[in-house]
Parts: sequence; C-alpha cells; structure tokens
Amino acid sequence: MGRPEGARASTAEASAVARERTRPDSPHALRARLEETGYLLDEDLAVACFLAVRLHRPVFCEGEAGTGKTALASALARALDAPLIRLRCYEGIDVTQALYDWDFPRQLLHLKVAEAGGVGDTELLERQLHSPRFLIARPLLRALTTWPSVLLVDEVDRADEEFEALLLELLSEWTVTVPELGTLRGERPPVVVLTSNRTREVHDALKRRCLYHWFDHPDFAREVAIVRRRLPDVTERLAVEVTRAVRALRARDLLKPPGVAETLDWAEALHALGATALDAELATATLGAVLRCHEDVEAARTLDLTASPAEAPPGGRAPDGAP
Ligand SMILES: Nc1ncnc2c1ncn2[C@@H]1O[C@H](COP(=O)(O)OP(=O)(O)OP(=O)(O)O)[C@@H](O)[C@H]1O
Ligand SMILES: [Mg+2]
Repeated sequence: MGRPEGARASTAEASAVARERTRPDSPHALRARLEETGYLLDEDLAVACFLAVRLHRPVFCEGEAGTGKTALASALARALDAPLIRLRCYEGIDVTQALYDWDFPRQLLHLKVAEAGGVGDTELLERQLHSPRFLIARPLLRALTTWPSVLLVDEVDRADEEFEALLLELLSEWTVTVPELGTLRGERPPVVVLTSNRTREVHDALKRRCLYHWFDHPDFAREVAIVRRRLPDVTERLAVEVTRAVRALRARDLLKPPGVAETLDWAEALHALGATALDAELATATLGAVLRCHEDVEAARTLDLTASPAEAPPGGRAPDGAP
C-alpha cells in the first residue's frame, strides 16, 4: 500500500532539502565532484559552473567539436544528483516540441466520451480539454517545474532566431505562459547548460543572460588523463601515444580536426585490436576511428603519426604539458 499523500510530500521535501545542503560550497568542491563523475575540467570552467548553480545563470558553452560541451551537462547532473533534462535543438524547433503541447488523441477521446454521455455544457468541456491533465510538458517546461534539475539546451545554434527569443524569455522570467492555463512558474530555476558549435552567431541578448565559456581542446596532460579515466583498460603508453598523434593531426590544416571524442574512439579501437602502443601500420589502418572525412584521411596517410613531437623543447616539456 502507498504512503499517504502528505507523508510522500514531506519525504520529497526532505530529500530536496538534503540535496540542497550537499550542494558544493565552492568551485573547488564542485570541480572535485565533477571529476568524481569522470569529467575532468580546469579551474575557469569549475568557477563558471559554480556560479551557474549559485546565481541561476546558464552556462553558454561554445567551442570546438568533441571537447566536452554536452558531456558537461550530464556530469553536472550527476555531480548535483539531479535529473538531466535534455533538449536537442534543430532547425524549425518550436514551442510544441520545446515547451509544451496538448495531448490531442486523449482530448479527442475525452470529447467522444463526453458526447456519448450527453454532456452539453460546451464551456465546461472546453475547460476540461485544456486542463493540466491533457498538457504534455516538453523539456523546457519539465525543467522549469522539476527542481532540482539540470537542463541541457544542446546545439542552440541549429535552432532559428524565433526559438532563441523564446529561450531568452524563459531564461529571463523563469515562467511559461500557457494561454489556456495562465502563467506556470517553477519553485526555483534549473541549472542550465547551453551548447553551441558556432555554426552561426547566437544573439547577444541570449548570451548576455549567460556565463560564457569557450571550449578548446584540452592540454596534453589533461587529454591523456581523460583517456585513462574513460578507458581504464587502455595502457598508459597507448593513451600517451594516441593523444600525441591526435595532437599532431590537429596541428595540420584538416577539414574536421579530431576532438576528445575522436581521441577516445581511436584509443578504444586500437585497444580492441590488442594494441598496447601505437605502431605506424595499425595507426594507418584505424584512421577511420579518428578522422571522418576522406580528404583528412588521405592527408593523414602521408604523416608519421608515431613520430615524437617536434614541438617539445629538448630535454623539457612543451608549454602545455606535452612530453
Ligand atoms: N573534460 C572531459 N572530461 C571527460 N570526458 C570528456 C571531457 N571532454 C570530452 N569528454 C568526452 O569526449 C566525448 C565528447 O564529448 P561531447 O560529446 O560532450 O563533446 P561536444 O563538445 O558536445 O561535441 P559536439 O560539439 O560534437 O557536440 C564524450 O565521450 C565525453 O565524455
Ligand atoms: Mg555536443
């Protein structure tokens, strides 16, 4: 048998309060929690995330492909012990996919049942049809009414400018107006992560609501650490050599330079083939795991990806930690 409604509510409140109490009290503490989830980050990003949580300001993540923009949102959700609510943007996305919609088939069913039962009060029927039970909450509304939660608005640059305006309104007011129901307001704003690959410039007004963070490729040491963390079965030597080779590829003028995602894919592919180090033949045979463009693969075939980096100063370390 279920617990009484009141008991359930107070248990939910208590656990929400407990979660609030365990919220990180410094960027350092949040960074430690994010790293526990396997997401490795620098101090600047930790500060941005901490402020996002504290000040209810979205983090606007822009940068190179495969550098951990999307992964940040899932790591934050895990670090804060909150559900991740994800909205992937695309051209033409609108209110009914992003905010809310009405459950038309159920409304129709309700109408048929009412008609069969001889309900003649059309005003009452109209009110019933537009009551919350027929409302489908899409990600933005779900996030607004779920606390705590982490809302990921992924690849916002793919959406149209009208959608940006909608988003701006939501992120400024933290309310949603459904004409038939009135204004819906959440208890507290969610933690919001917006990502963009900069396929177009996102409007300044939206960016101004946010804390901006540019995602570059990590330095050598962090990238090796990410590989080691994400793929613990890969040998350290393979992780180092693959990361070094990926950096050599990035230094070329490629059409699609590989991101961290590709470093991980390549290391995983090589490990699956039994490699414990990177040899030239295997590197060439597995280029498809790291490069996804014919011209880039052709260009990479001419390189010696197992060569030691020329950038390292003799007897020392490169400025970014490369050996
Ligand atoms: N700092 C990091 N710590 C741990 N894993 C990372 C980090 N950065 C990237 N990754 C890993 O790299 C992969 C790619 O990351 P993600 O998909 O978040 O990149 P992205 O920036 O969103 O790329 P895109 O622009 O293509 O959408 C994921 O498997 C992610 O876990
Ligand atoms: Mg992404």
